[in-house]
Amino acid sequence: MAKTVLEVRNLVTTFRIDKKEYEVIRDISFDIHENETVCMVGESGCGKSVTTLCIMDLLPGNGRVISGSIKLNGQELTTLPRRERSALRGKQMGMIFQEPMTALNPLLTIGRQMTEGLMLHQGMTKKQAYDTAIEYLEKVGIANPKDRMRQFPFQLSGGLRQRIMIAMVMAVQPSLLIADEPTTALDVTIQKQVLVLMNKLKTDVSTGVLFITHDLGVVAEIADRVVILYAGCKVEEGDIAEIFANPLHPYTVGLMKAVPDVDAEEFDIQPIPGVFPNITEDIGGCRFHPRCPYATDLCRAQRPEEIEFSPGHTVSCHHVKEALK
Ligand SMILES: Nc1ncnc2c1ncn2[C@@H]1O[C@H](COP(=O)(O)OP(=O)(O)OP(=O)(O)O)[C@@H](O)[C@H]1O
Ligand SMILES: [Mg+2]
Repeated sequence: MAKTVLEVRNLVTTFRIDKKEYEVIRDISFDIHENETVCMVGESGCGKSVTTLCIMDLLPGNGRVISGSIKLNGQELTTLPRRERSALRGKQMGMIFQEPMTALNPLLTIGRQMTEGLMLHQGMTKKQAYDTAIEYLEKVGIANPKDRMRQFPFQLSGGLRQRIMIAMVMAVQPSLLIADEPTTALDVTIQKQVLVLMNKLKTDVSTGVLFITHDLGVVAEIADRVVILYAGCKVEEGDIAEIFANPLHPYTVGLMKAVPDVDAEEFDIQPIPGVFPNITEDIGGCRFHPRCPYATDLCRAQRPEEIEFSPGHTVSCHHVKEALK
């Protein structure tokens, strides 16, 4: 069994809005093993980014982890002092954002940014850091890496910047890589290259990857396992083949049915009938019940427990439970 890199248990997170606390993450649990890519999918606003910010300890000021546990390589993070937690960022865990400029310093050359991180986090000498930076720039397919090292971020295209971000994060060889829509801003051919690259680096470094995307084509390409969120709740989780072949939750079924042409270059999650709830809305029972074609009184009254349908395939839905009886 591969080593567990990340273990999230019963995570509950709130945001304060107008002096009231609203639950945004409602009791989410999942694991990521080394050399495994877990894709997190769900409609806009379901809590994907907030989950990553909880793990990275980057929640905005009005956000708070209320309960639950987040362990990285067995070490509890939620009780760790801030300073120790931030030391883990960039060392044991790295993050790639949709827009690499948010993470790159516009005033420093690529070389300076890459080597400083390696000297700081890996204790490398300047020479070692320089050689490693070049090695990783080559790994991400960047021609003339020595010239690139002397350039500033604004001198590079979006695709190049994203590849440099990946090289920068992966050169540190983190146990956990979080990628929040890393390819959305790129054109399709560059997107493909970046995905292939991330997969290769994942295997080289044995990293566990949490990958967030709207694009089910991307999921099909890179995921080992899929976690499906709906309005702050995990509704289903399973191996990629199992989720595509045998989706159980009505929400997942809706997502899968909505996949249009498999030959399409990209297929985004399509709207399912009904309106996605606002976080300020108090919906009892199963959060999906107002949009679920199968909803019954039980669904309106009681939150469904998670059940293991088959090894590794879990779902939270009263109907699946009923069907199993
Ligand atoms: N700083 C904040 N203050 C209040 N609410 C917030 C804040 N940041 C996020 N939220 C709310 O938390 C919920 C989850 O947001 P999150 O950004 O995690 O969604 P997401 O799944 O990443 O969506 P997208 O696919 O659009 O990126 C949303 O309802 C959002 O409005
Ligand atoms: Mg997001």
